[in-house]
Amino acid sequence: MLSTDDILHLENLSTEESLRFITEKFPEGAVFSTSLGQEDQVITDIIFRNKMNIKVFTLDTGRLFYEHYELLSQNNSRYKTKTEVYFPDANDVEKYVNEKGINAFFHSVENRKECCYIRKVKPLNRALEGAKIWITGLRSEQSENRENMKMIEWDEDRKLFKFNPLIHWTYNDVLKYIEENKVQDLPLHKKGFISVGCKPCTRAITEGENPRAGRWFWEESQKECGLHSK
Ligand code: ADX
Ligand code: SF4
Repeated sequence: MLSTDDILHLENLSTEESLRFITEKFPEGAVFSTSLGQEDQVITDIIFRNKMNIKVFTLDTGRLFYEHYELLSQNNSRYKTKTEVYFPDANDVEKYVNEKGINAFFHSVENRKECCYIRKVKPLNRALEGAKIWITGLRSEQSENRENMKMIEWDEDRKLFKFNPLIHWTYNDVLKYIEENKVQDLPLHKKGFISVGCKPCTRAITEGENPRAGRWFWEESQKECGLHSK
């Protein structure tokens, strides 16, 4: 459990200290979800370099970029540890694809959200079973929806704490950490892909565009998949 004092204390710690504090408070049940994006590579580096007792996992939707798999494999060699991989339920994917089409997510927002639910949200919920605190790489700067998120939140639906250690970091802070600590990241970032999701649903952005403009780029609506919003 976390008291109000713990929550206030966390805000005054460095990111590394805050993760340490969390592992002390939750010796069992701290988990970190990585999308292999830049923010997550920072957190992965801190967790693995310091051998923190936190389960690190990623959700392989089956539609990722080749570069994701390369980076996952590089991480496993570099840190000599393994990121757990969760897959969608094969029956769910088969049913969706055979009934609606292999790229049905382009046809309607409803189809797109259903695909995200099958390939991301359901496997996430499975990965979080038994977890007491879920660590993410969310930053408030990333979108309007994330602006009001806090470093520590209670996720009522999943009945666990959500810890966003980089919530106050700027994108430059992320880049600085990556450079100073020689952290590997997706080569896609240098090609204009800032926020990277599944391959068919992500495009590079042009200068001045919102970093999330490349996600579900054909949609006008809220750019979220259901991992962090309903
Ligand atoms: S998304 O909801 O739009 O896809 P985004 O890519 O910004 O999320 O990532 C925000 C956080 O969600 C990441 O820091 C990570 O904790 C989690 N996340 C997103 N995609 C994945 C994934 N494929 N596997 C594991 N965690 C993920
Ligand atoms: Fe499906 Fe696209 Fe969502 Fe990936 S981002 S789960 S391919 S709709």
